[in-house]
Amino acid sequence: MKTAFFSTQPYDKTYFDRFNHSHQLIYFDAPLSAETAVLAAGCGAVCAFVNDIISEEVLQKLSAGGVKLVVLRCAGYNNVDLMAAARCGIKVARVPAYSPHAVAEHAVALVLGLNRKIHKAYNRVREGNFSLDRLNGFDLFGKTVGVIGTGKIGECFCRIMKGFGCRVLAFDLIANKELEAAGVEYLPLVDLLPQADIVSLHCPLTAQTRHIVDEHTLLLMKKGAMLINTSRGALVDTKAALEALKTGQLGYLGIDVYEQEEHLFFHNRSEEIIQDDVIMRLLGFPNVLVTAHQGFFTEEALTQIARTTLGNLEAFEEGKSLLNEVAAV
Ligand code: NAI
Repeated sequence: MKTAFFSTQPYDKTYFDRFNHSHQLIYFDAPLSAETAVLAAGCGAVCAFVNDIISEEVLQKLSAGGVKLVVLRCAGYNNVDLMAAARCGIKVARVPAYSPHAVAEHAVALVLGLNRKIHKAYNRVREGNFSLDRLNGFDLFGKTVGVIGTGKIGECFCRIMKGFGCRVLAFDLIANKELEAAGVEYLPLVDLLPQADIVSLHCPLTAQTRHIVDEHTLLLMKKGAMLINTSRGALVDTKAALEALKTGQLGYLGIDVYEQEEHLFFHNRSEEIIQDDVIMRLLGFPNVLVTAHQGFFTEEALTQIARTTLGNLEAFEEGKSLLNEVAAV
């Protein structure tokens, strides 16, 4: 099927070209937006990523150009107006699971990096500074970890932290029985936050979870606790987190996602004057570690993303049931 591929990165071409044998993929560097939707005219499908905006206006323009399917090469679909898609007669499919281990392990990398100050140690040693002054961390063994959202990624994260010898508390709408059997304790959020030395977010971004970490919930957290977000930027009210870092209420912040990331992430901005003062302030804290949405970025995940996305295109083209469809409820 002729498919307009938006927000293309070099690695997308590598993996999609490796596994694509039957579709005409037209790669565009530009993100999908109201301005660029016209590029998909004449295509049956578009392939989009996490920061492409798939609003009603965009969907109407895609529909006018003949698009019948949006395939998301990601798990989250908070950037799609599903009601509008239904009204426009456009189906939406995603990659529900690729490698939950990839994201969970990246969250653990942020925990370990922040705790043992690997980012600082790396730079120090390269400059011939072998002093250990202020590089001290804490044992993970015996600490309490709070996990918000225990779906595929949250479950992997819980199991890894259990392996470190942590006490793991969880908050989710539905308790995972297997995790409970493994010793994970489910608690209401207000009871979990005051006990956790580390809080890690693994729930999707929805109307209910937007700013689930805000000035109020930050105050419920243990003073000096660590917050990790590898899910979606808007789960955290970044300005509130910044204030909490300034007072020391928040001891560490590790983020792979950022509320305004669509203006920054996935591009080399090193020669530009970055206009986002919030991220620049955050980057100035010694106890903040930011990565640019790379949780999914492993060989296994990229392979699975390409295969599943191409499979979604194929199923639609052949009129088979679209197993990975997401629809408005
Ligand atoms: P999942 O659907 O398997 O699990 C999500 C869990 O969150 C479910 O158990 C659900 O019940 C729970 N949940 C939903 N609403 C909630 C609420 N209001 N309060 C508490 N829990 C709630 O999703 P999966 O695969 O584990 O992914 C989680 C998120 O990770 C995705 O939505 C996406 O935003 C993010 N992600 C980030 C990536 C990265 O590269 N950094 C890559 C892939 C996903």
